[in-house]
Amino acid sequence: MGFFNNLFGTQQATQHEEETTMTKVNIGIILGSTREGRLSPQVGNWVKELADKRGDANYTVIDIADYKLPMLGENGGDATGAAAWSEAVAKQDGFVFIVQEYNHSITGALKNALDYLRAEWNNKAAGIVSYGSVGGARAAEHLRGILGELSVADVRVHPALSLFTDFENGAELKAAPVQADSVNQMLDQVIPWATALKTIR
Ligand SMILES: Cc1cc2nc3c(=O)[nH]c(=O)nc-3n(C[C@H](O)[C@H](O)[C@H](O)COP(=O)(O)O)c2cc1C
Repeated sequence: MGFFNNLFGTQQATQHEEETTMTKVNIGIILGSTREGRLSPQVGNWVKELADKRGDANYTVIDIADYKLPMLGENGGDATGAAAWSEAVAKQDGFVFIVQEYNHSITGALKNALDYLRAEWNNKAAGIVSYGSVGGARAAEHLRGILGELSVADVRVHPALSLFTDFENGAELKAAPVQADSVNQMLDQVIPWATALKTIR
């Protein structure tokens, strides 16, 4: 009896774990910059580490650079990565955009990647983590306008990292402790919205 209890108890625990993972929402952490020497992978990995500690969603870093998207509709461009980009975004229930400020806005790469898709973005939730000389605030506000058009519900809490105080020499991420709290507060808003919006898709 003890043997069977142990056996089935273990099986049930494993099954339960799998079901929990499947019912958790998927959150894509999207790196908005693609240039050589960019800081976005550091920021994205930091957000993922904090997020994974919560255990409340399946978090994946999604790097736009991996898809090598040409400008949308460009003649002669190799758009073979577009199908994989569509699939990667479609799988997600919500997003954290890692946004860097380029000339007071988001990068051309992120705008182009957003423009490529429509239904794959619609009725999902998002948070923004930005950086720049004033925390990337102007880029983040531009992104909010774009997300509105794509029917993405962006949450209020917005961690904004300063290139001067949250990075060493503007190059190595050394975020102030308050920024980690802010990431968690942002995710506290993204997860319930991502879960709720799943029911209307
Ligand atoms: C083309 C370009 C324009 C930039 N414009 C701004 C700007 O308007 N405001 C700002 O705070 N930082 C600006 N910066 C600084 C970037 O925010 C900073 O270099 C940041 O690290 C860029 O993100 P990345 O390293 O992920 O590419 C600009 C950087 C580049 C490359």
